[in-house]
Amino acid sequence: MKLNFTRPQPPSGGTMIVGVLEEHRLTPTAQQLDKQMKGAISRALGLGRFKGRPDEHLAILAPQGVDVARILLFGLGKPDSLDVLTLQSIGGRIVTALNSAGEHSGVVAIDEISGARISTSEMAANMAQGARLRGYRFDKYRTREKPEQKPTLNRLTFMLDDPSGARKVYEPLEKVGDGVFLTRDLVSEPANVIHPESLAARAKKLSGLGVHVEVLGEKQMKKLGMGALLGVGQGSARESQLVVMQWRGTNASRGKPIAFVGKGVTFDTGGISIKPAQGMEDMKWDMAGAGTVIGLMHALAARKAKVNAVGIAGLVENMPSGTAQRPGDIVTSLSGQTIEVINTDAEGRLVLADALWYCQEQFKPQAIIDLATLTGAIMVALGKVHAGLYANNNELAERLVKSGQAVGELLWRMPLAEAYDKQINSDAADMKNVGERWGGSITAAQFLQRFVKDTPWAHLDIAGTAWGDKDQPTTPKGATAFGVRLLEQLVADGYEEK
Ligand code: BES
Ligand code: MN
Ligand code: ZN
Repeated sequence: MKLNFTRPQPPSGGTMIVGVLEEHRLTPTAQQLDKQMKGAISRALGLGRFKGRPDEHLAILAPQGVDVARILLFGLGKPDSLDVLTLQSIGGRIVTALNSAGEHSGVVAIDEISGARISTSEMAANMAQGARLRGYRFDKYRTREKPEQKPTLNRLTFMLDDPSGARKVYEPLEKVGDGVFLTRDLVSEPANVIHPESLAARAKKLSGLGVHVEVLGEKQMKKLGMGALLGVGQGSARESQLVVMQWRGTNASRGKPIAFVGKGVTFDTGGISIKPAQGMEDMKWDMAGAGTVIGLMHALAARKAKVNAVGIAGLVENMPSGTAQRPGDIVTSLSGQTIEVINTDAEGRLVLADALWYCQEQFKPQAIIDLATLTGAIMVALGKVHAGLYANNNELAERLVKSGQAVGELLWRMPLAEAYDKQINSDAADMKNVGERWGGSITAAQFLQRFVKDTPWAHLDIAGTAWGDKDQPTTPKGATAFGVRLLEQLVADGYEEK
């Protein structure tokens, strides 16, 4: 979909999209159109339920004698509650409405809203961002789709007095959008296409943006002593990989990096503790944590963020086979701590244990945030709305919650406590990889914490949020890329040189 910003121009056919504030208050452009159409908009508003709330829209056919075919009214709500997120959602809803009407293009009139705390360029740029994010579609394998099954909209134009101002606001947003799309692409791909080596190869491409990308293979990881990660991958025909991405966006010597670590299980069968067949196909997106870290590094590098950031992705395929790890096996992690593998399906924490330790040893980061589709239990606790947040540092936790609210990727803080930690003590080794039946997401987090020294650390359990079952205003169903926008915001707000 092409997105343009232009100065106001007289309409020439097609759909004109105009805003209406709550309680039917027309924006200036809507007023003007209403006049041209002898009150047709006001009459339409009087007939239906449309009030002008931000989740509403109403399409009306323009009468003869007007230079537009159709008018789409979208609700803006109250001027003082108009914010970036609301506008992104409105942008997304416009795309849905135009596609279901079979439109190929639309022109959105952006008016100054009195009482709003947001400028017209911010309004236009954020609507464009929402529209683009909503227009994403992973359709490369749909080879026999009929034209009427495909979305029709291919151009959306935003008209405002200061189009170059809007373009300037949109520029970094577009880069973040590129990162989101990269993550969605990687997470959507099936596991016969995305496996540890092919995913590492995709990450390697970030070097084109100035990211330094290094890939460790099994030989190197073995030499280092990454027995926990390697144990997970040992049943697979595919070689495990550790991807290390470095973005140096500032020379500041105090610029200790902020680090992101992602779980990248390119397919999780459960291993010898095999999962039931029903729904196992979902486990192709068990690499969403890694996919998010890769998309985030893309976003940061593309918009040349003034920050030093490290992204690490632990990539393995968890398969049952004659060489697979068995329940009861004891592995030695990079940290030297030994782990009794009670359940081979609790594999993500084993991968992260070594990736987290490596990250701290190698980079001495100022903070580490890991992302993982770690447990089904987090979905029992929080559903598919909030991701679980665990942290050893309140300030980091608060910053993360705030960034999440700013971008609409919500986090809910979960507890860490000694009593949960005790559950993973083992008689045979330093620890075991599963706790008791209840609180499974917490014991998983406790396990990770055993591999964190005093670095401020947060863990996001994104098992419930990485994949959507239904369309959301700016996120079509499927891979959501949850975390890319959130962590990009975190960096921009708290870790970037101004
Ligand atoms: N990748 C799964 C968690 C998961 C489940 C993610 C559903 C997304 C959707 C993880 O590796 C796993 O299998 N966890 C087990 C842990 C258990 C064996 C302690 C779980 O949650 O059942
Ligand atoms: Mn598993
Ligand atoms: Zn898994």
